[in-house]
Amino acid sequence: MADHHWASPAGHFQGIFFLPVLAVTLALAGLLQSLPVFAIDDARSSFSGLTEADIPGLVAGMTLAEKVGQLVQTDVAVATPNDVREYHLGSVISLIPDGTLGTPALWRERADAYQQAALGTRLGIPVVFGIDAVHGHSYFDGPSVILPHNIGIGATRNPVLAQQLAAVTATELLATGVRWTFSPSIAVARDIRWGRAFESFGEDVSLQRMFAAPLVMGYQGSETAPFRVGATVKHFIADGATDGGVDRGNATISDEELRRLHLPGFVDGIETGAVSVMASFSSVNGEKVHGSKMLLTELLKNELGFDGVVVTDWEGVTLSGLSLKEGLDGGIDMFMFAESWKKSLPELLRSVETGEISMTRIDDAVTRILRMKVRLGLFASPFTSDAWDAELGSEAHRQVARHAVRESLVLLKNESDLLPLDKSRRVIVAGSHADNVAFQCGGWTKKWQGAHPDRFGNPARPVDGATSILAGIRELIGADKVVTNTAIETDAEVAIVIVGEEPYAEMFGDRAAEELVLTPEQKSLIRTLHQRGKKVVTVLVSGRPLLIEEELGLSAAVVAAWLPGSEGGGVADVLFGDYGFSGRLGFSWPATADQIPVNVGDANYEPRFEFGYGLETLPHAKVVK
Ligand code: BGC
Repeated sequence: MADHHWASPAGHFQGIFFLPVLAVTLALAGLLQSLPVFAIDDARSSFSGLTEADIPGLVAGMTLAEKVGQLVQTDVAVATPNDVREYHLGSVISLIPDGTLGTPALWRERADAYQQAALGTRLGIPVVFGIDAVHGHSYFDGPSVILPHNIGIGATRNPVLAQQLAAVTATELLATGVRWTFSPSIAVARDIRWGRAFESFGEDVSLQRMFAAPLVMGYQGSETAPFRVGATVKHFIADGATDGGVDRGNATISDEELRRLHLPGFVDGIETGAVSVMASFSSVNGEKVHGSKMLLTELLKNELGFDGVVVTDWEGVTLSGLSLKEGLDGGIDMFMFAESWKKSLPELLRSVETGEISMTRIDDAVTRILRMKVRLGLFASPFTSDAWDAELGSEAHRQVARHAVRESLVLLKNESDLLPLDKSRRVIVAGSHADNVAFQCGGWTKKWQGAHPDRFGNPARPVDGATSILAGIRELIGADKVVTNTAIETDAEVAIVIVGEEPYAEMFGDRAAEELVLTPEQKSLIRTLHQRGKKVVTVLVSGRPLLIEEELGLSAAVVAAWLPGSEGGGVADVLFGDYGFSGRLGFSWPATADQIPVNVGDANYEPRFEFGYGLETLPHAKVVK
């Protein structure tokens, strides 16, 4: 498999900084909106006022090369601004984030350089810059606010908070000049062996419905108008339903179940105005989604009335073993290509010229892409703005993220009301995940596989501004009360042991059921501290429930913290009672490997903890003594 995220970007980029033309374009937008005829020759001067009603006129005047270029999205590592100008490329992305990421200022310069090139074409159709901002915007050098992954959002059961989180992300994206995010993932993950379970709110459609619309609204909301960030609801459809939880696998599923369990969130996202939908790498009943006319055209576009852009997953058509024609005929509008764009673009052109691909389909795809660009305000405000500089990585954003962490924690066990802990007592804090911000952020942080040195030899990347759980505890109760050396004798009665999974993304997180366990070192630390008479509080940092029968027995308290992101202080806040535990499981928690997969509603449903389970505690301030 060719993989995208670990090649180093070519050093081709030469930044040019262009000042935003906001005020002028806005004024023009108002004036020109009334222009009925779209004159190609002076199109550039009219563009700021382009409306959806003008799109057919614009499409009618486009050459084949101009149309086909719009269908192509490629990475900044493999396409220069000049390529955008020469080939009329519709979109650029930055998804090969394992090289130098660049400061926010560089991101904006780069986006503006591509935009300047796009506006320099005959028609001056703006290019749209996209990225995977799946839990905050992490792909720049600097103090990113990394939000809890979706599994934690699901546990909050708080859609209002989710909308705020998406709005935080949108603002941070705008601050770096990005106008399109490939999120939210609204997968209903039915099998925790799947390496993307953490990108799901949980196993039940009720959570998909609870969060799809608020997230789309948060990303696309009007607070930043006329600049808007486009949302992508993904992956259409049933990516979380594959047999055995195999990433990019096949879902054997009835139409009834597909519609009942996996479709409603897409309906909500579309009704809320999501500008794009990403096709799933997976198959449904043996048919690759990327080529499925039944799913992409008949269901999504015709039945649900989706009038936005269906974008492929990364090289999705080719990696699905399909031809470009098969993808287009199925209903794909924009192709996310990497290196292959240079060979695919002429192939697309040829196929239209020979009549193999119909012009009607091309026109429809272009229309959808232009519609998305209008909706994102790109014609009116194509360039980036420094308006959000102060908000990038701001304290206000960190506070929203920290609050989300607090609400996402699920308390699984709390013997004799051990939690919340007393801030005045000394505690041991130990474990592989106690002081590791990369681990607590998980995959899709700074790099595809996470900010730690990954399995592909990519070195660690700093998560600037992040607070580890240990640091959060030290800040809250005072460093003098925290003992981290487990070898020394101490009067501390409680040991907080923070352990879990190391980061992964996509298929690299697929596991057999028996592998969903703590490592021997993590287990032995819990055992040792227990044997020494400490009351163990096990905090699990993981992208899914793990098999913890032994640890449940050895621990006085157990907390599922999921992948909380950069604000480890939020975990400390709840452990020590500044806030109460309120999170609820979005996934049934299995007792044994042979129970997996286990989902609410199953016959013989006997997980260790049921869907929706979560003990509550009151903050200290509210405890009546
Ligand atoms: C993932 C998508 C992601 C895309 C771009 C793919 O491998 O499946 O979720 O948006 O890459 O990075």
